[in-house]
Amino acid sequence: MSKKPVRKAVLPVAGLGTRVLPATKVMPKEMLPVFDRPAIHYVVDEARAAGIEHFVFVTGRNKASIEDYFDTAYELEMTLEAKGKTKLLEELRADLPAPGACSFVRQQAPLGLGHAVWCARDIIGDEPFAVLLPDMIMRAETPCLAAMAQAHKVTGGNIIAVEEVPMEEVSSYGIIEPGQRKGDLIEMRGMVEKPAVADAPSNLMISGRYILQPEIFDALEEQKPGAGGEIQLTDAMLKLMETSPFHALPFTGETFDTGSKTGYLRAAAAFGLGDPEHGAEVRRILEALLKG
Ligand code: UTP
Repeated sequence: MSKKPVRKAVLPVAGLGTRVLPATKVMPKEMLPVFDRPAIHYVVDEARAAGIEHFVFVTGRNKASIEDYFDTAYELEMTLEAKGKTKLLEELRADLPAPGACSFVRQQAPLGLGHAVWCARDIIGDEPFAVLLPDMIMRAETPCLAAMAQAHKVTGGNIIAVEEVPMEEVSSYGIIEPGQRKGDLIEMRGMVEKPAVADAPSNLMISGRYILQPEIFDALEEQKPGAGGEIQLTDAMLKLMETSPFHALPFTGETFDTGSKTGYLRAAAAFGLGDPEHGAEVRRILEALLKG
């Protein structure tokens, strides 16, 4: 079983973001600011902390600002330099990925998450890789993907982050069928998209971080559209599970779904409250708003 290190990550950003319209009419949802930086910034930081060296963004129309965000902003840097704003300048430069560390491929039509991941096949090649859904920000002392990469060094195979959700909410998510517990990991027997409460094999939802073997691309190549008429990653993972082991790693930190209006608001408030410089003021503002 391949235990090659996980060096590359796929960030699918080609979705239409219809749940946050009209904000996403001309602006990618991944670029919506969560307090002081775009949502995608947090996710790229998480990937970096896990040792990811190459980021593959699967983009679509209206997503050019993501490419610009991870590039040098020449005029801005010159202006900051001229004004002596060195701290800001250093922060901006420290955030830039290494030259050549980002690739951008187009998914010409949003045919589903599985199809978006498949679009990255040539750049990933024959090695295990991570997938991070950029509308999910995951906050924890040990970042989620770092914990998964650590587990992958030991077990190899495929690893999926899962989180407990209230049983009455399982119909909104991909849910795993758990097998035996092995230390921090849970063997997986299956998974199902949006099950009815009565049929759900557990309350462990698939939460947006994956480490997958490259054979997933063969499964995706053949994958027919599933739920919602989209090519689903879950369906291809089920196929891969016939030949390659899957483990789930329960994530116990906080998850923010910035792809919905209220989830986005919750994320902005949480990161504002946690900001060392502005947190106390954010608290005062929120409390005043609540008092009305
Ligand atoms: P979502 O279903 O959450 O994103 O897909 P969406 O389609 O943008 O959302 P709504 O329902 O219209 O609001 C999860 C992730 O997969 C990407 C999305 O960009 C998101 O990060 N995705 C989804 C693609 O890249 N391509 C697709 O065809 C579908």
